[in-house]
Amino acid sequence: MSYINPEASEFNDAQVPMPPSRAPAVTVPKLRDMKRNGEKIAMMTAYDYIFADLLDKNGVDVVLVGDSLGMVIQGHRSTLTVTVADLAYHIGCASRGMKRGLLLADLPVLSYATLERALSSCETMLRAGAHMMKLEGAGPILEVIHGLTQRDVAICAHLGLTPQSLHKLGGFKVQGRDERAAAQLLADAKAAEQAGAEMLVLECVPAELATQISQALQIPTIGIGAGVGCDGQVLVLQDALGLGPHRKPRFVKNFMNLADNPNGDIKGAVQAYVQAVKKRTFPGAEHVY
Ligand code: KIV
Repeated sequence: MSYINPEASEFNDAQVPMPPSRAPAVTVPKLRDMKRNGEKIAMMTAYDYIFADLLDKNGVDVVLVGDSLGMVIQGHRSTLTVTVADLAYHIGCASRGMKRGLLLADLPVLSYATLERALSSCETMLRAGAHMMKLEGAGPILEVIHGLTQRDVAICAHLGLTPQSLHKLGGFKVQGRDERAAAQLLADAKAAEQAGAEMLVLECVPAELATQISQALQIPTIGIGAGVGCDGQVLVLQDALGLGPHRKPRFVKNFMNLADNPNGDIKGAVQAYVQAVKKRTFPGAEHVY
């Protein structure tokens, strides 16, 4: 087999062509610089080698192996079925497609309920090839963020609509609409930064509030249904490509309709997404709350 070093006597880890621990060009400090310099961050999900490679080669700064894979890969109705093992498998696949971008990985529901569990989950994700881990919520989770970042694990917080709290929230609903909820969200965002988070995803939050939060923080914010005032945007790959039977939320823009046009230009759609994020033409007024 040509990929095996003929000089080595047996196949081992050292012979794997692309080790997952290689430092990317887009690093955590670079993301902060991008915010400082006003350069928008383009993030998109991918769950496998082929798409991670395509996104990485076409300007996506951060590839997210999200627990959205429970819905778009496994066909479940929520992200709650996804396990650490599921995510680690897909991180491993995606990491082999990454050269330039940062690989962000979700921690699945309750896998970070205590610091001990979170350390164990992060260890699995790091070994699989993730550079940074994302977890949802504030309150007791702030202590977990602090414990992880004190041990030099790069963490992205996730506030607003937190899909792992689906049942408590009563559905996939916009968050932070009234004054009290908005003030709480702003306080949680500041507390997450204070706890050591290096980035913050804001999902389904009124655009004005997301802008206020973004301006109040030094760390970059990444919006999904949170308006153009965030420091970057994230979309689920299948949503951007117009794939899947599910009803699309308001914040989704199809950059192509692959389902009805199998000859479509996937590379062009990814490049159009990156350009729209960088030039602030996405999200538009029709995509926000
Ligand atoms: O799992 C995921 O894909 C996410 C994004 C929607 C932010 O968390």
